[in-house]
Amino acid sequence: MTPSEWKAQLERVRDRYLQAIPQTKNINELERLKIGCLGRKGALTDLLKVLKDFPMESRKPMGTAGNSLKNELTALIEERRNALLHSDMEVNLLKTRLDPTLPPCPFPDGSLHPLTLTLEKMTGILSKMGFSPAEGPMVETEYYNFGALNIPADHPARDLHDTFYLKDTNPHPSALSPQPSALTPKNDRLLMRTHTSPIQIRLMENARPPLRIMAPGRCFRHDAVDASHSAVFYHLEGFYVDRHVSMADLKGTLQSFIRGLFGPEAEIRFRPSYFPFVEPGAEVDMKCIFCQGSNQGCPVCKGAGWLELLGAGIIHPDVFKTVNYDPEVWNGFAFGIGVDRVAMLLFGINDIRTFYENDLRTLEQFSQ
Ligand code: PHE
Repeated sequence: MTPSEWKAQLERVRDRYLQAIPQTKNINELERLKIGCLGRKGALTDLLKVLKDFPMESRKPMGTAGNSLKNELTALIEERRNALLHSDMEVNLLKTRLDPTLPPCPFPDGSLHPLTLTLEKMTGILSKMGFSPAEGPMVETEYYNFGALNIPADHPARDLHDTFYLKDTNPHPSALSPQPSALTPKNDRLLMRTHTSPIQIRLMENARPPLRIMAPGRCFRHDAVDASHSAVFYHLEGFYVDRHVSMADLKGTLQSFIRGLFGPEAEIRFRPSYFPFVEPGAEVDMKCIFCQGSNQGCPVCKGAGWLELLGAGIIHPDVFKTVNYDPEVWNGFAFGIGVDRVAMLLFGINDIRTFYENDLRTLEQFSQ
């Protein structure tokens, strides 16, 4: 091949590809074309390969022409690739009828209910103190809600005025209790649980001490609804069973728990009280966090200086006997705290109905 023949071939390659590249219809076609000219065995590559066979003086201008064509074609292919990619995208966009230039739809973040936030705070503190979570059914049997908790048949809590009974009885105690105790009476009446204390029984029936349990849940009482009473409310049960558990353990635990909730200044006091499933039993008050007892007209404590917060006590030996724990070996404490009450104090809400009306305008204010 003479240098002029080589030149003529180079021109042919140039004409062919300059014409073909802009006519490619898709990336694959372009890719094939690129390989045909610039690939390892491409038309231009072949021409550049034979350059070395020419004498030095003609090789130089030929090399310059060859390389400049290589650059020209490479740039043209790149340009065509961008154009094709762009039009592919346009076709796809048209197909999906999506307009990416529109502002996004507003996507409002939900927020947790103030009762949920409060429960999370309570269980967060207790779990750091070693309490494990447990649950129980909202529909309970009379046995678990009352009998096993040493609440006698004539106790006023069992009254129709206080408890929602269901029409059905419980023909199979096992439906509610996976491993029913031998003591579970058959044909027990069903009711909506009035507290979370039945979870103590269910847990102890199925586990051996030591136990340190926190059991939150929804409870129901036949209460006339007003700013401080709701027929639906939440309790959190805490209990600890081990050897040598004392009132001091109960007091220390509650002190830390309440301070965790309301701050290091929170002060509590124990008042003797009666719950049939504990002995001794106490009601636990917290010094009014709003007036510290200094305001006779305080709207929260009504001038009492103390806020009633929870019931607690040392688990009654009869309760242990019911679940076949030896009361000579095991001791325990239990407490039940109203979650709604805590939430009202934490968030400064003065009407319990706020939690159950589900007015988003109100609930949104407590998002975190
Ligand atoms: N269950 C009791 C109530 O409903 C509270 C409580 C729980 C009291 C545990 C003592 C021990 O008021």
